Amino acid sequence: MTTTGPIRSICCIGAGYVGGPTMAVIADRCPHITVMVVDLNAERIAAWNHDDLARLPVYEPGLDAVVGRARGRNLHFTTAVDDAIAGADMVFLSVNTPTKTRGVGAGQASDLRWIEASARQVAAAANGHTIVVEKSTLPVRTAEAVKAILSAAQGTAGGTKTFSVLSNPEFLAEGSAIGDLENPDRVLIGGEDETAIESLASIYGQWVSQERILRTNLWSSELSKLTANAFLAQRISSINGIAALCEATGADVREVGRAIGTDSRIGAKFLQAGPGFGGSCFQKDILNLVYLCRHYGLEQVASYWESVVGLNSWQQQRIARLVVNSLFGTVSGKRIAILGFAFKADTNDTREAPAISICRDLIEEGAQLAIVDPKVGDQQITQDLGRPPVDPVTAARGVPLGGDGTWIPAESVLEAARGADAVLILTEWQEYRHLDWGAIAAVMRQPAWLFDARAVADAAAARAAGLSVWRVGEG
Ligand code: UDX
Ligand code: ADP
Repeated sequence: MTTTGPIRSICCIGAGYVGGPTMAVIADRCPHITVMVVDLNAERIAAWNHDDLARLPVYEPGLDAVVGRARGRNLHFTTAVDDAIAGADMVFLSVNTPTKTRGVGAGQASDLRWIEASARQVAAAANGHTIVVEKSTLPVRTAEAVKAILSAAQGTAGGTKTFSVLSNPEFLAEGSAIGDLENPDRVLIGGEDETAIESLASIYGQWVSQERILRTNLWSSELSKLTANAFLAQRISSINGIAALCEATGADVREVGRAIGTDSRIGAKFLQAGPGFGGSCFQKDILNLVYLCRHYGLEQVASYWESVVGLNSWQQQRIARLVVNSLFGTVSGKRIAILGFAFKADTNDTREAPAISICRDLIEEGAQLAIVDPKVGDQQITQDLGRPPVDPVTAARGVPLGGDGTWIPAESVLEAARGADAVLILTEWQEYRHLDWGAIAAVMRQPAWLFDARAVADAAAARAAGLSVWRVGEG
């Protein structure tokens, strides 16, 4: 155990969806602590420093106000990684940990190269005693690797360099990150060094009550994060499976959800049927859990959790197939308006968005998609679909029947719907709840469909406007 005084300076490595908002809230709530957020990506840092708070690299409701209060006071964004580490009493590792795409564990294990690189940077640049906090979602026992790297540097620099490692997983959900950070259900701190644990607990203690700050050992903390995400994702696959059964039997999944959600043992949250879960965490964390279980010879447990991801992919394929089947078995050369590309409302994040696989399937079938999303730009969609949009002149001429599928960006819902045979809602943006279906139907090619994979549109108004309507989970 090492003694340490109060924390005066923090460095966070990684200015992404987790690091940026988390550090902004810490800086806002702890004006006496200097918070340096560092990233190798100079463009991202420049965006965090942009004068126009509407152009921060992460879109989160309320984030602009928090950054506006703290930035330049005790919150700083910089690419000077080593200097920030050297000046910090506490370093958060908040770098990306995507699923490995090749080698051992490809498709399941996490790629830890960024964690390893940042741990090595901390080992080299730190000064005196440094508390290193794992913030990224990590496979269980990653702290061991981080510790091994740091202990190689322990005692160097004249014996003054020492480290403590903590796990402090982040439970914020995108779109509600600021509220989740300001008023968390719990804060979890895992570790062995009680002094370090209490140092971190005292930071959160500035605005979170002590009974909500849970202390565990390192491995329980790491595993709790994977387990929380696995349980949440499992609820979505469960309700999506029941939605398909509702469609087949004439039940309504929202009625079933209400009926089961009032059972206090089940609870009402996370029972919205939809196009499947997306986001950077759920699939990655479950696959991590599956990999871990297999590693420890727990095949039944591994396949149980694997089926949650399997059902999620099936739900996405099912929706693409359903659209094709409803449009007389072919979408070749047909225009389909896609409303929403982000993986959920109130974020510009598209990682693992169900829209990606559904749009790819429809393009594969030859459809011409007109994609609109209030926060996701063309460049991001191009990257996600692996193809640029077709130019507007060619698009205006229409796609020859049997030609290759394409996509174009649209500025508004009405523009996307013009000449379309169907509108497909994939993200639950608030504005899609109040669309003028009379005006939309008037610009579509008849007979036309509304496929509402989020059950947010006014289905009665769409039907009254002459559209055929499919809503997820409605029989
Ligand atoms: C999740 C966890 O909620 C959070 O605690 C963790 O830190 C990171 O992973 P996030 O992925 O940002 O957060 O968003 P979340 O609200 O959990 O939604 C994940 C996906 O599930 C989205 O695609 C969302 O649309 C979908 N979802 C959620 C449903 O389809 N139905 C629901 O009832 C809830
Ligand atoms: P998350 O959703 O977990 O926050 P992101 O991908 O949004 O993930 O952000 C992770 C950030 O970490 C990226 O901006 C990336 O450039 C940054 N990063 C990764 N490795 C390092 C490193 N060694 N030093 C500094 N920044 C890093």
